Amino acid sequence: MKNWKKENWRTKPRVQMPKYADAHTLSDVEARLASFPPLVFAGEARKLKEHLGAASRGEAFLLQGGDCAESFDQFSADGIRDTFKVILQMAMILTYGAKVPVIKLGRLAGQFAKPRSSSVEVRNGIELPSYRGDIINDLAFTAEAREPDPNRMLQAYTQSAATLNLLRAFSTGGFADMHRVHSWTLAFTDSDRAEKYRELATKIQDTIDFMAAAGITGETTHEVSTVEFYTSHEALLLEYEEALTRTDSLTDNWLAGSGHMIWIGDRTRHPDGAHVEFARGVLNPIGLKCGPSMQIDDLKILLKKLNPNNESGRLTLISRYGAGTICDHLPKLLKVVQEEGANVVWICDPMHGNTIKSSTGYKTRSFDSVLQEVREFFEVHYAEGAIPGGVHFEMTGQDVTECIGGIRALTDEDLSSRYNTVCDPRLNASQALELAFLITEELTNHQRNNLVQNRFYGH
Ligand code: PEP
Ligand code: CO
Repeated sequence: MKNWKKENWRTKPRVQMPKYADAHTLSDVEARLASFPPLVFAGEARKLKEHLGAASRGEAFLLQGGDCAESFDQFSADGIRDTFKVILQMAMILTYGAKVPVIKLGRLAGQFAKPRSSSVEVRNGIELPSYRGDIINDLAFTAEAREPDPNRMLQAYTQSAATLNLLRAFSTGGFADMHRVHSWTLAFTDSDRAEKYRELATKIQDTIDFMAAAGITGETTHEVSTVEFYTSHEALLLEYEEALTRTDSLTDNWLAGSGHMIWIGDRTRHPDGAHVEFARGVLNPIGLKCGPSMQIDDLKILLKKLNPNNESGRLTLISRYGAGTICDHLPKLLKVVQEEGANVVWICDPMHGNTIKSSTGYKTRSFDSVLQEVREFFEVHYAEGAIPGGVHFEMTGQDVTECIGGIRALTDEDLSSRYNTVCDPRLNASQALELAFLITEELTNHQRNNLVQNRFYGH
């Protein structure tokens, strides 16, 4: 992009970013990061953009998911494997429902920096700066831990590189074979209370058996034994993002080398702010969170600023309103996008508008509200003649107790048992899979109704 430099964001108003006390260490860290290899390659970001372009036309469906915030302490191969595994299982179930390829996009390998609703946290009358994610400061409630430390960026880079390395190995090394992935899902439906999803799982099994009989197996067909897996995170900490930005030698454009897709959060999307300034200049697919405070006029400006050439797959709008309120806001936004003729992918984040405080004091989300917002998201799209392009979840492969509800009917009292998140509450593996089954049911019913309508009315 002409007239854009990777450091220009520094001249714009910034919010939600740390003030580092030690400018010398900061510039040292930035220089080191700038000398390291990027984590992703421009060709991959372009490929993801093509897939997202297909999602904007209803020819693909996006599944984006992972931790609210990755953590240094909880970093482990098993943790990455389990989240990857559940995303693949969900993707397979959703492919059956959506009848189009599902794009797999982790909130992984870089999802470290967090915007906060308050800049301070008070406990027992003591006030300290808020925790802002492991790339910035530490969760422990001491003044020292909460001081932003630039060196943390180096650890975040290393962890992201190791995570991505493992994800790439899992994607192509045999782990992601469709037969394996589905056998895990079958085991889930055999488990305690999940048998009601058995019928759908059996239908998927029949499809796989049919394909195998027709000669389409992992041995014969690359697409059966491997997956394309992409990474994404909120581009909040702009010193880190700038340091990993590189020119793409093929096109001379700029690539944010920190992940395949980056998004702009609901609190940092001011049209004239630093975050929009940074994101507008890189070639990656960009996500933009749209919550209740999104103004129509701002949306119009953002559509032009972030996607001046109206490129398909460039911009993903992530709706995050909350069950019950999405219907008051989203139709207006869908209309504006249609009137502007803007190419976007609309996806639903049913997590961030549904955060509540449990009676036991934990921040939580109810499975039912999450599901309700997804359903309302679909309904609003169908009513407006728009295309629902995907879903975005905070979830983990671990058996945590952070969100209430689901087949195991977790209650407020259960939350304390394995409440491990360093930020927002995540769906556990069982809740995430159940949601994929229910969304697939929803999609299948919609297709069936359409088919009936078409037969009767000849649409
Ligand atoms: C998030 O996705 O973790 C997040 C902070 O979202 P939002 O900007 O929509 O609140
Ligand atoms: Co979150």
